[in-house]
Amino acid sequence: MGLTASRAARKFIIGGNWKANGTPESMSRLVRELNEGKLDLAAPEDVEVVCFPPFVYLSQVQRELRSEFQVGAQDLWPQPPGAWTGEIPAMMLADMGVRWAIVGHSERRELGRSGGRSWGCGETSDDVAVKARCAVDNGLRAMVCVGERLEAREAGTTFEVLDVQMGPLAGALAEADWERVVLAYEPAWAMGTGKVATPEQAEEVHAFLRQWLRDRVSEKAGDAVRIQYGGPVNQFNSKELCSKPNIDGFLVGGASLKARAFLSIINSVKEVLQPCGS
Ligand code: PGA
Repeated sequence: MGLTASRAARKFIIGGNWKANGTPESMSRLVRELNEGKLDLAAPEDVEVVCFPPFVYLSQVQRELRSEFQVGAQDLWPQPPGAWTGEIPAMMLADMGVRWAIVGHSERRELGRSGGRSWGCGETSDDVAVKARCAVDNGLRAMVCVGERLEAREAGTTFEVLDVQMGPLAGALAEADWERVVLAYEPAWAMGTGKVATPEQAEEVHAFLRQWLRDRVSEKAGDAVRIQYGGPVNQFNSKELCSKPNIDGFLVGGASLKARAFLSIINSVKEVLQPCGS
């Protein structure tokens, strides 16, 4: 499908980011419960669903997960296979049939402190753009995360921060590449802090990102690129969030580890969306 300039063409897309959680047994249980759960709408026709297990469980989840759901990786290494101890090159993911990767998640952009020492990857927006480019070059689709920290939100510089994060992407991706990219807006300040972004705050940023795509990529890209909300999404707020005109999906963290909550988020989309293609 090419970039089409129509709201209805933006099929709702829900990612389940399982982060660094799970055992072989708990993965099997989660997958079994997801497989047995009832979907009120057709996937992938009405809604796209992609689950992102930790790398070590990718094969297992690929084998076991219901075929309507896709499987993606939580990151990729943007170099060809070679002497990169501990890394997972995009090409390896593509070779094993993985079709999606998250890049630039706020937890990878952070350089934080935990247990009395510094941890984290400290990925820059340039790194993220290189990874997005690499995903596209290897035939993967990328969920590219952007979002501001609490300091920026409180200082009123959210849009400036997003502009800086998006800039390298505009340089790294040609217009046609955006067909393979989904943006995920993650207000880092609303994750694990007890602070909640309202649907209106989310919609305001999504509208900004869409206009940014129109101005910096093309009118068509602005209309066609899907923008997911990646703040805390659960079965209680999903319906209101997805009724917002510029929210085209969710990147769900914690709630995606609970089959019942995740399925209920997926099913909640039905009540507010015009079925795609009808
Ligand atoms: P959360 O995580 O839903 O647990 O807030 C979202 C994310 O990290 O993508």
